[in-house]
Amino acid sequence: MIKIAVITGASSGLGSIYAKLIDGRKDIDEIWLIARREDKLLELSSSLEHRTNILPLDLTKPASIDRLENALKAKAERVPSYDLSSADEKKGGDGMTIAFLVNCAGVGKIGNYCDIEREDNERMIALNCTAFVNAANTVLPYMKRGARIINISSTSAFQPFQHLAVYAATKAFVLSWSRALHWELFTRGIRVTAVCPYWMKKTEFIKNAESSGIPSSHSIRNFRFGDDPVFAARLSLWASALNLPVVTTGVVSTLHRLIAKIIPRGIMQALWELWRLL
Ligand SMILES: NC(=O)c1ccc[n+]([C@@H]2O[C@H](COP(=O)([O-])OP(=O)(O)OC[C@H]3O[C@@H](n4cnc5c(N)ncnc54)[C@H](OP(=O)(O)O)[C@@H]3O)[C@@H](O)[C@H]2O)c1
Repeated sequence: MIKIAVITGASSGLGSIYAKLIDGRKDIDEIWLIARREDKLLELSSSLEHRTNILPLDLTKPASIDRLENALKAKAERVPSYDLSSADEKKGGDGMTIAFLVNCAGVGKIGNYCDIEREDNERMIALNCTAFVNAANTVLPYMKRGARIINISSTSAFQPFQHLAVYAATKAFVLSWSRALHWELFTRGIRVTAVCPYWMKKTEFIKNAESSGIPSSHSIRNFRFGDDPVFAARLSLWASALNLPVVTTGVVSTLHRLIAKIIPRGIMQALWELWRLL
């Protein structure tokens, strides 16, 4: 049985860290790396021990999901005797299976409604929501008992965040959908975990999210107390092994998750207004 890990957003940041951590596992045979920048994926691939399959795809395009689906079908045909109609490991026999899906590719934009172009809003929704669901639905027929789906959400899922409004809403979607999927897949023995980090400054995310270099009244100025992405990835792999539905990856996100359950949203949003400008 060939066991495959599929990682989206593997060309930088958290996704590349997942690839390196999963590369250290002996229970995986192949790692599939997905993102747009092929050169970065090739660079990462050459640093990994495992066999890799590089899929340079723009996941905001529906055709990219078709290409992933076709690549999986082709692999299953090359490694025969996989029974696609069966979710039962015993009937599957030898063949290939997806052991991990890490849905990590994500994009954000900081600013208020008039700062962010329509294309950027559409890209956030297409990548952070639609692509997550489509990638999971595409790999699920190839998953068996013990397989894991790790969906990268954010601490911004715990409340509405003005000046990060659309991004935070996409991450609330990921959190809500992951929690539901966790229950739907429970009887199949497939584990689903939503990962909720606070800011991670060591990735490309914040640079890409800032609309301009000049802080305005619409921007976020405070990125203090960021999470470490290596710790976040390690902790989330551990949480997914335990089949926890949600994991926060640092002190701020853990406190935020708890406090947002107690304090009314309007007050949380007023506190955010102060915090973001500090
Ligand atoms: N950093 C933070 O503060 C933070 C906090 C909470 C949650 N998160 C979440 O963590 C995840 C990883 O982000 P990161 O911090 O590691 O940022 P990052 O370094 O910018 O990584 C984002 C990844 O997504 C890929 N990507 C972007 N657009 C894509 C597209 N259209 N199709 C396919 N892949 C695409 C990028 O690769 P290409 O450019 O090569 O396509 C890159 O590999 C994201 O889901 C993000 O929302 C980040």
